[in-house]
Amino acid sequence: MTVVAPELSPAMLARQAEFPILKQPIRGQRLVYLDNGATTQKPQVVIDAERDFYERSNANIHRGVHWLSQHATDLYDQARVTVQKFLHAARPEEIVFTRGTTEAINMVAYCWGMSNLKQGDEILLTELEHHSNIVPWQFVAQHTGALIKVVPVLDSGELDLTAFQALLSERTRLLAMNHVSNALGTVNPIQAMTRAAQAVGAKVLIDGAQAVAHAVVDVQAIGCDFYVFSAHKLYGPTGMGALYARYDILDGMVPWMGGGDMIQTVSFEGSTYAPVPQRFEAGTPNIAGTIAMAAAIDYVQEVGLEAIAQHEHDLLTYATAALLDIKGLRIIGTGPHKAAIASFMLDDIHPHDLGTILDMDGIAIRAGHHCAMPLMTRLGLPATARASFALYNNTADVDALVAGIYKAKKLFGVG
Ligand code: ALA
Repeated sequence: MTVVAPELSPAMLARQAEFPILKQPIRGQRLVYLDNGATTQKPQVVIDAERDFYERSNANIHRGVHWLSQHATDLYDQARVTVQKFLHAARPEEIVFTRGTTEAINMVAYCWGMSNLKQGDEILLTELEHHSNIVPWQFVAQHTGALIKVVPVLDSGELDLTAFQALLSERTRLLAMNHVSNALGTVNPIQAMTRAAQAVGAKVLIDGAQAVAHAVVDVQAIGCDFYVFSAHKLYGPTGMGALYARYDILDGMVPWMGGGDMIQTVSFEGSTYAPVPQRFEAGTPNIAGTIAMAAAIDYVQEVGLEAIAQHEHDLLTYATAALLDIKGLRIIGTGPHKAAIASFMLDDIHPHDLGTILDMDGIAIRAGHHCAMPLMTRLGLPATARASFALYNNTADVDALVAGIYKAKKLFGVG
């Protein structure tokens, strides 16, 4: 069957030229980068923002009386406003800078979970969660005596919403779940699930790591209490991210790291803490990374998240049809609402072998459990092969992936 390639927007297709790494051949071949779920590549404006900071603006923040320090502080504070507006949060104080999604979830676990949960309380997770939204809650459960309950997933990769409703009770104190599954691409109905969890008195944390680069996020419309993301999956630097927390909740949270910049007064008898969000940003932060993260947000907003979503949707539709045309290939995650991720299995070829063979032709995919081992166990799979798309991918990338899979089948004699 011939799968017809979509007409993609020329303006979007031209964006590829803004990413220097994509011009670099890999193993002598054009780089076909389809591992965007793991991390995205960076446009020149983001690379320049980080370099420019060190070339022109570098100084420590919130400390110096001199011009450079005040300038760096202004850039850092402006970055907070950029993130606030990006997430549609009510005020900049609701944004805490972190090293990424993992640190943000751990911060909520330590600064809210440890002191607000007790024996018999329930933490509701889902079978779709990444390890970073499981293990911190196991720490909290071990420390407080709270119990972890899990919303099951259907064979399609969608959450079982009937089971979810049945798991909710007045014992549910927290629902922690992802917006988009990193392993399957399922987009979860977070708004309705947030409402249902809050109706029984639970707080709601949404892991937005796989969502923020692909759709407009409005934390006030979602109504969640916490929302977390990483910059590096959003065309920004590694080691940066943010926690959104509703102001009243954040203001009631205890700090976890002590040090400079998070205090009001210090004496050997005791210390008082700075207002939020500084209370949660001890020590000199990644100032250059924060500014580069804001540059990445400006970049995706300039490209337009609606345009990105449309482009990736068209690519995913094309890739799904082209992949399904391959004999012995099964897509894992077939729900109707999916972000730009195609997870799949081939009869007779292990995902790791496929990943290695594709790499010989400069095609980068991820093969493995995707840091979602409980999900793989539930699906009865050791691993999947995952192609994940970004705004700079095009139909030639999909065609290269498909050709690479045929080549692998031939090598394995299963063509
Ligand atoms: N969480 C990242 C992924 O899904 C690393 O690949």
